[in-house]
Amino acid sequence: MLKEVIATRYIAPLREGGSLPGLVETDDLETDDLGTYVLKFTGAGQGRKTLVAEVVCGELARRLGLRMPRLVTVGLDPVLGLGEPDPQVQELLKGSAGTNLGMEFLSGALGFDPLAFTVSAEEAGRIVWFDALVNNVDRSWRNPNLLHWRGATWLIDHGATMIWQHHWPGAEASAARSYDASDHALAPFAPDVAAAAADLAPRVTEDLLAEVTAEIPDVWLAGEPGFASPDDLRRAYARPLLTRAATVHTRIEGLK
Ligand SMILES: Nc1ncnc2c1ncn2[C@@H]1O[C@H](COP(=O)(O)OP(=O)(O)OP(=O)(O)O)[C@@H](O)[C@H]1O
Ligand SMILES: [Mg+2]
Repeated sequence: MLKEVIATRYIAPLREGGSLPGLVETDDLETDDLGTYVLKFTGAGQGRKTLVAEVVCGELARRLGLRMPRLVTVGLDPVLGLGEPDPQVQELLKGSAGTNLGMEFLSGALGFDPLAFTVSAEEAGRIVWFDALVNNVDRSWRNPNLLHWRGATWLIDHGATMIWQHHWPGAEASAARSYDASDHALAPFAPDVAAAAADLAPRVTEDLLAEVTAEIPDVWLAGEPGFASPDDLRRAYARPLLTRAATVHTRIEGLK
């Protein structure tokens, strides 16, 4: 399970995000930045599946050597929002008592701009291959969900991935589909997906996926129709990724 920390102060909303993520201070003394985390609310419109996707993809990406800020769960007492003037934020805080997702805040990070930064063909290949694996539809040049921090490119925001998690009976068929990379923020950098696949695909094993899915908090898995236990659902998250890893590089479309 992810490390658990406790929110001690709600700092401010991050206005850029569609789900209205917020910045919080926590009791975590191990971060660079005084325990500051970006909080993704369990009560946000997109629901807890978005948070599960963040955990599965974020923890997998980091284990494959991609740069990905640390994830934790953040215990939230809605009383922290009492002084918050924005009624929308008040509602989110009230609806998110308990376990939320925290991502370590990369202080001073810049949004990735394909015109201002370059990425090697090798790194672009690894990121595009990873996005194809998890079917990430949210890394376009319009909204790259990549940050430039301390001279390197970091991945964030994996809420819009693994579309198959929204309809488990069709998951296998859905995961067999191709990935359209024509709008991908890194498409202009000649991504070497063949090299990425050769290196990364063999590392996506049943054991690795078991380790990754074990990080998901039970409370976001419990009660899913058709699954007897959180562990059953963990295996359902792992299966399409395991199958897809072997061949997805042959189904990436739209790269020149
Ligand atoms: N770990 C972080 N460190 C620094 N800034 C961050 C971090 N996470 C998010 N941000 C900033 O907050 C913005 C919104 O975050 P994110 O993309 O995760 O939210 P979202 O609500 O899922 O967004 P979207 O509108 O893309 O669906 C990012 O574009 C980025 O500018
Ligand atoms: Mg985003």
